[in-house]
Amino acid sequence: MQTKKMWEGRFKKELSAAVNDFNSSISFDNRLYREDITGSMAHAAMLCRQGIISEKDCSEILGGLSDILDDIENGKLEFDMNAEDIHMFIEAELTDRIGDAGKRLHTARSRNDQVALDCRMYVRKSMGEIKSSLIRLIDIIADKASMHLETVMPGYTHLQRAQPVTLAHYIMAYAQMLMRDVTRIENSVARMNYLPLGSGALATTTYPIDRESVAKALGFDGVTQNSIDGVSDRDFVIESASDLSLIMMHLSRFSEEIILWCSSEFGFIELDDAYSTGSSIMPQKKNPDIAELVRGKCARVYGSLMTLLTLMKGLPLAYNKDMQEDKEAIFDAIDNTKLCIDIFGEMLNTCKVNVSVMRNAAAKGFINATDCADYLVKKGLPFRDAYKITGKIIAYCIDNGKTLETMSLGEYKDFCSEFEDGIYSAIDLVNCVNGRKVTGGPASARVAEQIALCRDFTGARKNAE
Ligand code: ARG
Repeated sequence: MQTKKMWEGRFKKELSAAVNDFNSSISFDNRLYREDITGSMAHAAMLCRQGIISEKDCSEILGGLSDILDDIENGKLEFDMNAEDIHMFIEAELTDRIGDAGKRLHTARSRNDQVALDCRMYVRKSMGEIKSSLIRLIDIIADKASMHLETVMPGYTHLQRAQPVTLAHYIMAYAQMLMRDVTRIENSVARMNYLPLGSGALATTTYPIDRESVAKALGFDGVTQNSIDGVSDRDFVIESASDLSLIMMHLSRFSEEIILWCSSEFGFIELDDAYSTGSSIMPQKKNPDIAELVRGKCARVYGSLMTLLTLMKGLPLAYNKDMQEDKEAIFDAIDNTKLCIDIFGEMLNTCKVNVSVMRNAAAKGFINATDCADYLVKKGLPFRDAYKITGKIIAYCIDNGKTLETMSLGEYKDFCSEFEDGIYSAIDLVNCVNGRKVTGGPASARVAEQIALCRDFTGARKNAE
């Protein structure tokens, strides 16, 4: 039990148990143990290189820290919930084990730059894991898309059938969003990748430390340039929460589509039994709970972002204890986003696509009306006239229970003499899709290119791992 406080010299009374609990963060920051130990090892090694601590003290510190790490990972050492935080816990444990040398570790360092370092390393690592999960999900989407280059379905605006597209084109839109999410993570990780250690409490130190060598040892691109900023900055936490919020927004939109698509009203897909649940009362039900939960968890990730933004908005420089509140928010956002990406990918991977239902849905609703108008434009009519004529044809179809495909040529000609036999191929859904060959369009050749670019994107990142 760690009841003695490091600062007891200055204090006459002990902290009450309730205040101790209120103040303590070890129940949630214990997950930083690895970063804390790695950071301390790099710090100690530097202190030794600079002649600030002796070789003997350094080797005892390094040995002690490495044993502590092993013991935590093997379950031999439990976190003491009476400790104030993970940093105090590890330092006290080290001193218990190796004595005086342990007391030298905190030379030229403050918990303020220590926690800033640990958090950066933890967030950097976690965002890397999120990125790998995204890459896996993007690959799953690309695989699914490759199987459905010819699967015609309605594209919507206002949730009204608008123009025919393919399932491949549709879901590759999500791959585009997720690829942007990956580059957003790369950007924010690049911005956060500077070592704050050496900032001290806020004004560095008088010891001749070598920050650059510590930065190198811990995989940073350099050191932070202002010690006050170094300990005050939590932009990297907020930016990461913002990256995660966008990812969750994308997954939430996709989830919404999945929920709609597996309703009887759409019937476009069927989720695998392993990724849906039944009802306790209605035996016919197969509920898309997983997609709904992903949509729901988006709210809590937004909540974390809002917590973090609000947490930081009124803080004077430099460190304030308020900042301890950043951890649960960012940890929760990281954990839930990771979970959602992984489980969503498996749900998508295993879902069954009802190709003919999609195709039939595209055949209804005059989804090829634009193509009918474009046909007349190609015959020389101005688009606005062609649009008006097509509108009249559609009104006629609705009144007479017809579709553009079932109108006779004679009926077409009653609306405009320019109509010829070619109209039927112009409004054929597959031709409508494949006629849209513009870059970014749904023609299967274009979507195949889109998929290839996407695979280059994920491939390059997998090779770099
Ligand atoms: N547990 C603290 C946090 O998470 C560590 C830093 C404490 N620094 C201090 N001077 N009280 O922010």
